[in-house]
Amino acid sequence: MTAPVPHRSGARPPTIDADKMPRHVAVVMDGNGRWAAARGLPRVEGHRAGETALVEVVAGAVQLKLPWLSVYAFSTENWRRSPAEVSFLMGYTRQVLRARRDLFHSWGVRVIWSGEQRRLWPSVVRELREAEVLTRNNTGTFLNLCVNYGGRAEIADAVRTLAREAAIGQVDAARITEDDVAARLRGGERTFDGGGLPGRPNVPDVDLFLRSSGERRISNFLLWQSAYAELVFVEEMWPDVDRTVLWRAVEEYSGRSRRFGGPAS
Ligand code: FPP
Repeated sequence: MTAPVPHRSGARPPTIDADKMPRHVAVVMDGNGRWAAARGLPRVEGHRAGETALVEVVAGAVQLKLPWLSVYAFSTENWRRSPAEVSFLMGYTRQVLRARRDLFHSWGVRVIWSGEQRRLWPSVVRELREAEVLTRNNTGTFLNLCVNYGGRAEIADAVRTLAREAAIGQVDAARITEDDVAARLRGGERTFDGGGLPGRPNVPDVDLFLRSSGERRISNFLLWQSAYAELVFVEEMWPDVDRTVLWRAVEEYSGRSRRFGGPAS
């Protein structure tokens, strides 16, 4: 295993008490288009610059020894973008996976994919699977790449699974619990083997939900898992984000008081 090269400023990750560290940070990488427009560039140049930011933030997560990092790369709603932008994002995702998987592997990162298989380019699915397989025995940060992901679609997939199980008497419909639903959340519907990578771990609850670009929305990202997440919104457009932004957000999180519906202490 190799450590990521330090941040260009020499900044080091903050020291956070173990009980104040988030286990799972979910990131909405928003603002690529506006970043490009502000520079008179085509939108796709914003996505290219956003890739550098993504690698930076993964480096920051690895340095922080963060157990889980989820990133929203393409939502089930992003198909509404122009055909040219959708094609770019599909091809670019494939290219990024191919180009970065060895680096992530060298950092001990475990890549997993969350998302629907339907409509996704088969070559993108193949790259995602290859990255999952390559990194499956690593023990470092889980990088949950959410590609063609939608929170409602993921919940609907779990409901379909439960309905099938109830129909054949495997579960008692009247006794379905929150844990039963959570256990069937697998990112979205797959057609190739009925699930993800064998042994794919369940994505844990989100502790810190981070969104760039000043927008203050959840946008269908990890809806179930974010029920009690702390929300942090930063003003930077995604291409201007680097690992220090992640570290600042984690510091802010560590100062919050989480109640999970209980009384303020
Ligand atoms: C949202 O910004 C960003 C996306 C829909 C794509 C995210 C893609 C990357 C960060 C590129 C690298 C990652 C991979 C895995 C290929 P936006 O386009 O909605 O920006 P806007 O709100 O300013 O228009």
